[in-house]
This record gives sequence, C-alpha cells and structure tokens, in this order.
Amino acid sequence: MSARPRLLVIDDNRELADNLVELFEERGFAVEVVPSAAAGLATARERGFDLAFVDVNLPDTSGHELVPALRSACPYGEVLLMTGHASIDSAIAAVRVGAFQYVVKPFNVAELVATVDRALSQVQLRAEREALSRQLAESERRYRDVVDSTGVLVFAIDRQARVVIANRRACDTLGVTAEELVGLDFFTRCLAQDGRASARSRVESVLRGHGVVEFDAPLTAKSGPRSVRWHATQAAVGAKENDARAYLTGVDVTERLELERRAAESEALAHMGTLAAGLAHEIRNPLNAAGLQLHLLGRAVDRLPDGEERAPLKNRVEIVASELKRLEHLLGDFLELARPRPIARESVDLVRLLDRVLSLHEPIATTRNIMIERKFERASARGDHDRLEQVFHNLVVNALEASSDGGTIEVTVEREEGPSPTVLASVRDTGRGIPEATLARIYEPFFTTKPAGTGLGLTIVRQIVQRHGGAVLIDSTEGRGTRVSIRLPAASP
Ligand SMILES: Nc1ncnc2c1ncn2[C@@H]1O[C@H](COP(=O)(O)OP(=O)(O)O)[C@@H](O)[C@H]1O
Ligand SMILES: [Mg+2]
Repeated sequence: MSARPRLLVIDDNRELADNLVELFEERGFAVEVVPSAAAGLATARERGFDLAFVDVNLPDTSGHELVPALRSACPYGEVLLMTGHASIDSAIAAVRVGAFQYVVKPFNVAELVATVDRALSQVQLRAEREALSRQLAESERRYRDVVDSTGVLVFAIDRQARVVIANRRACDTLGVTAEELVGLDFFTRCLAQDGRASARSRVESVLRGHGVVEFDAPLTAKSGPRSVRWHATQAAVGAKENDARAYLTGVDVTERLELERRAAESEALAHMGTLAAGLAHEIRNPLNAAGLQLHLLGRAVDRLPDGEERAPLKNRVEIVASELKRLEHLLGDFLELARPRPIARESVDLVRLLDRVLSLHEPIATTRNIMIERKFERASARGDHDRLEQVFHNLVVNALEASSDGGTIEVTVEREEGPSPTVLASVRDTGRGIPEATLARIYEPFFTTKPAGTGLGLTIVRQIVQRHGGAVLIDSTEGRGTRVSIRLPAASP
C-alpha cells in the first residue's frame, strides 16, 4: 500500500461522489471518481486501488456483479458496496461476492471512517503477508539453488525414513524425478542391498536423536552401484510430524577409491616384482645345474646298449629337458619385466634368428601337423639379439597355442625402405583369433586366457620392441586367425 491510500469511487451520483472526495482527501487519501462499472474496472486494472466504493446500482451493471471483477483486477484491494436500502439479504449478497462490507446511504461519517480504517488495515495486513511470502519464496529458491547446484547428494527423510527432499544431483544419479522419489523408503530405494542394514541402524540412531553419524554405503545409481560416503544429521527440531527428521548428504567416492585401490595394487605389484626378480635369479642357478646334469644323463642314455631300456629313458629325458626350457623362458620373462637391462644395439640378422627360433618349435609343429611357412627377405634389425629372440619365441608359442592341428603358421621378414629404413617381421596363424574384449587387455601383465598361461608374453614383447624404438601391430579376426607384426629399425648396411 502506498503512503497515500488510493480510493476509487464508482458511482454515477456526482453529488455523493463529491462528498466522499471531500471527506477522504481531507484525511490524506488520493481519491478518484468514475461514473460506471466499465470505467471503474479499467481504472482498477490500470492503476489499482486500496479501497473501492461501489454503488449497488450502476448504469451499466449491478455493483454485486462488479465486485468479483474488481477483486481479480486488483487482488490486494478491498471493496465496499454502497446501497440505499439496508437489508439482511443485500448484506449477505455483498459478503458472498467478496466485498469487505456494505455501507448504507446516507452515510454516518464516523461509522464510515471506522469501516474504511478497518478495511485499510486488512489491505495493509494482506500486503505485508504477501511481501513476506514473496521473501520466503525467494529465500527458499536461493537455498534450493544452493542445494541443487552442489555436487553432493542431498536427501531429507522423515521419521519413517521416507524421502521428503532429494536434490537434483541425487535425482540425476538415481535416474528418477524428485516426485517419483518422495515418499519412498530411502534405504530400499537408494542403497544397494549389501550396505543397507548397517546404514539403516546408523541413521535410526540419528533419528532417535544421537547427533551425527558417518558411514559408507553404496548407492544404486542408474549407471550401477556407486561408492558413497554418507553424513547424517538430525533435522532442526520443531518440524511437523511428517517433515524432515534427518538430513543425509553423500559424496560419491567411487573414483577416489578406485584410484586408491590401483595405487595400492601397483605398489603391491612393484614389491612383488622385486621379490619375483630376486627369486627368479636364485632359481636360475640350480636350473642351469639341472640342465647340465640332464644333458650328461642324456649322453649316458645314448651310450646304453640298444635294448628295451634305452628308448623310453631317452624319451623321459627329453620331456624333462623341454620342461626345463619352458621354466627358463618363464624366468627370463620375469626378469625382463622386473629388471629390464639396457638394450644392445647390434646388427641382428633376423632371417638367421627366426630360423633358429622356428627350428626349436618345428618338431612340435610337425607332430601336430601344423605347417610352418617362411617368406624371408634378407634383413637385419638394429637391436639386441637375445631380446629379439625372446620376442619371436613368444609370438611363435602364442601362434602354436592358438592353432588347431593341421593349421598353418606363416612367418615373414621384409625390408621397408625410406629415409629411416625399418624391417617388418610377422607371425601369422590360422588359429582361433582374438575377441575384441580380449584384444583390449592382451598387453596387461598376467592377463591370460589359458589355463597354464603366465600372461607375460605379449607384455614383454611390447616392452622389448618399444625399447628398441619399434612397434607391435596386431591384426586379428575371431575364428580366422591372428597376425602379429613387429616393426624395428633396420641395421645400417
Ligand atoms: N596368436 C594368438 N591368437 C589368439 N590369441 C592370442 C594370440 N596371442 C595372444 N593371444 C591372447 O593373448 C593372451 C595373452 O598372451 P600372452 O601375453 O602371450 O600370455 P599367455 O600366452 O601366457 O596367455 C593369451 O592368453 C591369448 O588369449
Ligand atoms: Mg604367450
């Protein structure tokens, strides 16, 4: 309400209107007079009013009909109906249409002024109430904004642990709207089964008035379970029966936990690596001694007279020898990963090297009817002979393990000329191929799909090749076969 209350008189009786103007302007009102309902409504819409005097009999419509229109044009104002005849009926009708009261002409000035004062204090009250509720809505909106824009999950629950409020982050993470969530049991709807019971008992202690608790419980997010650290506090007292009794705020710690887990894991791996390297080193000496003794034993068996004994003995010696060889390679792989020594930079004749590696595996390939084809161009790489041997040994073993009996393994070597010449050596098999999900993991240490695999082969292959400044290329079709190519810097001729 403005400093000068605005009075609108709607009456075609000029004389009476003038009386009102005189009476109320003297009392500090701003008074405006219009002669018809239509003009009154227009003024009300345009400029509003605090109090309107409306004659019951207007030229264009009845005052009773005008009241609701005036009230909706100016909701904070009050209306007084003026009538020449007091009756119970018109009093009731006036109130029914929303007038503050009705006044009878001719006016008793003292009564009229008292009525106007009452009506105005009503207007004032309403204006104050509206200002307050606007302020309240504004402050609610600001808090809501803060709660909604935070990255933390915020819930309020009632005494029965039903959701009363959930902020935007909480709804988005769960993949529901706030309306869908409100009223549901917080624990069953929002928490995963495994953390639910203990979370419930912690929060219940808060609901019973035991301060603040913190706990971890996974949230059933739409993308799958998320690890969340929760903080529960009691809501302010004085809330209504069904209102919030506890607030729960949750921080999503999934990524942080994952990082911590990985850091711990790689630390453990590093320790294990050192341990394994030491162990492997220690195993190497007795292994060499065993190998030597086995070699001598083999020679002794060879010298036995050609009888029933010799062949089976010889066979056993060979089995042990090949197992020892496998162990040696495994140890080599371990040591290579755990303690990589510097790479030599010699000229390595790849054709000779591959011939040697293949000749080691050809006896096995023959028994399995696997054909090994060589397509060799003369080429030398610049690098470390023993390391490269280890690389191709791993590739050929993988190719043999992936092949079914009767398959083909094609091994190629070619020169690639250019400003910095390279050599490309590849091992291609017609075996089972590598599924896409496996392909993404084959370089991980200890990743294997074989019951007795170590999962170290390709890890080492890549490490060695990269340390040569080269690259490993894998091309595989599931069910059709795999080609693993190694590109290395060529040795200068
Ligand atoms: N030529 C291949 N054909 C099919 N799968 C292969 C081939 N080479 C490697 N793989 C896949 O990659 C995995 C990792 O190989 P590797 O690092 O050599 O370890 P391992 O041979 O001990 O399993 C194998 O378990 C296998 O699933
Ligand atoms: Mg392997």
